[in-house]
Amino acid sequence: MAQAYVFPDNFLWGTATASYQVEGAVDEDGRGASIWDTYSHLPGRVYENHTGDVACDQYHRYKDDVALMSSLGLKAYRFSVSWSRVLPTGRGTVNEKGLDYYDRLTDELLSRNIEPWVTLFHWDLPLALQNAYGGWASREIVDDFADYAALITNRLSDRVKNFYTINEFACFTDYGYKDEVLAPALRLPLREAYQTRHNALLAHGSAVRAIRDNAKGPVRVGLAENSYPCVPVVETQENIKAAETAMREMNAPFLTAVLEGRYTERYLNDTGENGPRWTSDEMEIISTPVDFVGLNLYFPVHVRAADSEQGYEVLDDPASYPKMNIPFIKINPEILYWGARHLKNIWNVPSVYISENGCAAGDKQSRTGEIIDTDRLFYLKTHLKSVHRAVSEGYPLHGYFLWSFMDNFEWNYGYSKRFGIVHVNYETLERTPKLTAEWYSRVIAKNAVV
Ligand code: BGC
Repeated sequence: MAQAYVFPDNFLWGTATASYQVEGAVDEDGRGASIWDTYSHLPGRVYENHTGDVACDQYHRYKDDVALMSSLGLKAYRFSVSWSRVLPTGRGTVNEKGLDYYDRLTDELLSRNIEPWVTLFHWDLPLALQNAYGGWASREIVDDFADYAALITNRLSDRVKNFYTINEFACFTDYGYKDEVLAPALRLPLREAYQTRHNALLAHGSAVRAIRDNAKGPVRVGLAENSYPCVPVVETQENIKAAETAMREMNAPFLTAVLEGRYTERYLNDTGENGPRWTSDEMEIISTPVDFVGLNLYFPVHVRAADSEQGYEVLDDPASYPKMNIPFIKINPEILYWGARHLKNIWNVPSVYISENGCAAGDKQSRTGEIIDTDRLFYLKTHLKSVHRAVSEGYPLHGYFLWSFMDNFEWNYGYSKRFGIVHVNYETLERTPKLTAEWYSRVIAKNAVV
């Protein structure tokens, strides 16, 4: 019988994690502190005062983890480098032991034919840089980030061929410096907060250049952005057009700026006198062409056409809208299709990856030790069918990184939310593949949604 959802041969099947969420070993081998170390230790910030001190202990268990990835047939692993592990004070003195760790992890992956995809920044800013000049709120961060990017490229680019500069701009700029939600939990005046966004963009562009300038061979560079995926609520021509307009405007502070090299008029109007200050040289750096765009997609923005100046309306979802086991994950598999389609049709992006998609589920280990996560299975199956739609319609969607390989430290939720396809027992640190790991492994083996 012909299989329905077959993918192209070179489609990349991966999983993703991030340093602070899985590594642990926060005081080992010369690692410096990051803003997440101090933040997670502030009483009342994280669920039941959990911290990433031990996390999944991947720092010590990476060999077993890579062996498990290999047994599942994974083709790629997206991990992030802890900046303060390799540069304990963020700049200056290099910690060789920190670099050695990423060498070993890279080599281990390659020995199992798993492609390492490196993210340079996934929120764990060196504390020293926060203390020295206010971290991302200062323009000084730009050169430090570029130097750090050069360091990692020099060390790894003989083996690592794909780099993500930055993970999710809004989460560490807005939530960190404007809304007091994530580390470093500040509430800066809007003028500084919007400049923080701009600094992050400039750091991204400078890092793209630093990576290319220092690469030991051909490398590809992109970013991993949690753009607002605008889904036409009913697929009419009018609504599709409205969704494209909304996609540009809703992502104006970050993705649109990177892909167009300018801030939209609406964004500048909305931010008014608090809006970003920039030069045209900076905009050129920000919009240095990327080789691919990674999308981290977890929830939809439903849009329809409107007879208004902006031409679209963002719809409120009803309270009964289906969600997974964490409030922000509202289920609509179409985000993956529309994400890829918009990137091609609006900005002609040559290559798109889903750099994160997945969900928290209320996993329970049965008496026999199994984790039967049928709800996550439903979520993933439907989402991968939507990936398939994008691929089969010819959009350049080249790979999918499931979030996450394993349960891990879910930021303010601590260990209370489980996103992995591999279960982690936080008392024993034992890993147990869930039902979805078995299923994903079959998907990869068959190169088809099964
Ligand atoms: C982040 C991850 C996080 C995941 C689930 C993304 O926003 O990049 O670090 O764990 O979503 O919340």
